Amino acid sequence: MAVTRSIALQAVNTGLWSLKRSSSRIFQQAQTVRALTTIMSPPSKAVVYEHHGPPDSVTRVIELSPVEVKENQVCVKMLAAPINPSDINRIEGVYPVRPQVPAVGGYEGVGEVYSVGSAVKDLSPGDLVIPSPPSSGTWQTYVVKDQDMWHKISKDSPIEYAATVTVNPLTALRMLEDFTTLNSGDSIVQNGATSIVGQCVIQLARFRGIHSVNIIRDRPGSDEVKERLKALGADEVFTESQLEVKNVKGLLSNVPEPTLGFNCVGGNAASLVLKFLRQGGTMVTYGGMSKKPITVSTSSFIFKDLSLRGFWLQKWLGADKAKECRDMVDYLLCLAKERKLKYEMELVPFDNFNSALDKALGKLGSQPKQVIKF
Ligand SMILES: NC(=O)c1ccc[n+]([C@@H]2O[C@H](COP(=O)([O-])OP(=O)(O)OC[C@H]3O[C@@H](n4cnc5c(N)ncnc54)[C@H](OP(=O)(O)O)[C@@H]3O)[C@@H](O)[C@H]2O)c1
Repeated sequence: MAVTRSIALQAVNTGLWSLKRSSSRIFQQAQTVRALTTIMSPPSKAVVYEHHGPPDSVTRVIELSPVEVKENQVCVKMLAAPINPSDINRIEGVYPVRPQVPAVGGYEGVGEVYSVGSAVKDLSPGDLVIPSPPSSGTWQTYVVKDQDMWHKISKDSPIEYAATVTVNPLTALRMLEDFTTLNSGDSIVQNGATSIVGQCVIQLARFRGIHSVNIIRDRPGSDEVKERLKALGADEVFTESQLEVKNVKGLLSNVPEPTLGFNCVGGNAASLVLKFLRQGGTMVTYGGMSKKPITVSTSSFIFKDLSLRGFWLQKWLGADKAKECRDMVDYLLCLAKERKLKYEMELVPFDNFNSALDKALGKLGSQPKQVIKF
């Protein structure tokens, strides 16, 4: 403003130019001043897809031009972001809510504030932030979003946990809360126990004195996997083939019949969850990793009165839960910082994105969660 005024005075004092030429010059100089004060992001390296389809053929890493950081916006230098099954489904075009193409992949992650717009008060360069609730486009080196889309977290939060805390741990926490009242001494049963959600369910249940019965796929090294899940607090871990018996509940030693079951696999693995449930129990489906449908016997309804429910975090977050989401994220990050909540991850440099994607797509068999490090 002061600069613009001095430009105007300068123009009047010279008295040499016509009014028309002066005002045109003032306009040009004012434009230059505005351009100089405009904050721009650095160019960003991003995983972009222009069409839906198989992620390993439709994604490519490209450089995006700098964008303006508007007055209430924040530019964040991303540090890490995971490849979750739902990210893959969004790129495939089969997820019910997805960004319009062309789009940048990713939905959660963590970064450091790089620059802020002139009206931003509560965030400063260097702050550690996550998009909360999560939002699309985290697979890039610089992300610009409105200030209220970022949640500031403690600077000593472990980066890989900050990057992954929302989608999966929060799902585990909500599912333990939202369907039945679980008391200490009760038990739950789940398939897909090696997933991050599964590992979190085991630990969050254990904190509350709730037992867990866990089902994993038959895979090389399954004994080692069982030991790892037991070290997290799992009471029982079975491979699917171990459960090919008439009475699966006969395999439970000191664990009561589960009241609540979680299914993220479908097919036979879902039927096994149902078999473990006690009279009147509930199975919550939150994923479909095997892409096979769930088959429920008639007797499960008539004689066991089982209930089938579903959970979708995005719907839960949509119900005005932004504040609650942030409180729970802080709680989960505290647990992670204290090493009370842990799960397996592999941090992969951004340059190796394609091999991380292949692992996340299951091309190399069972792999830990792939987390891109920018
Ligand atoms: N509804 C929601 O709001 C919500 C929120 C978060 C997550 N989810 C869902 O939760 C599930 C787990 O997500 P995550 O990120 O925690 O998983 P993750 O850590 O990426 O692990 C993938 C899991 O899927 C299993 N798996 C992979 N391919 C499979 C197949 N063909 N058949 C059977 N099992 C297979 C893996 O078993 P192995 O270890 O044996 O390879 C592993 O347990 C996914 O379905 C995801 O979409 C849903």
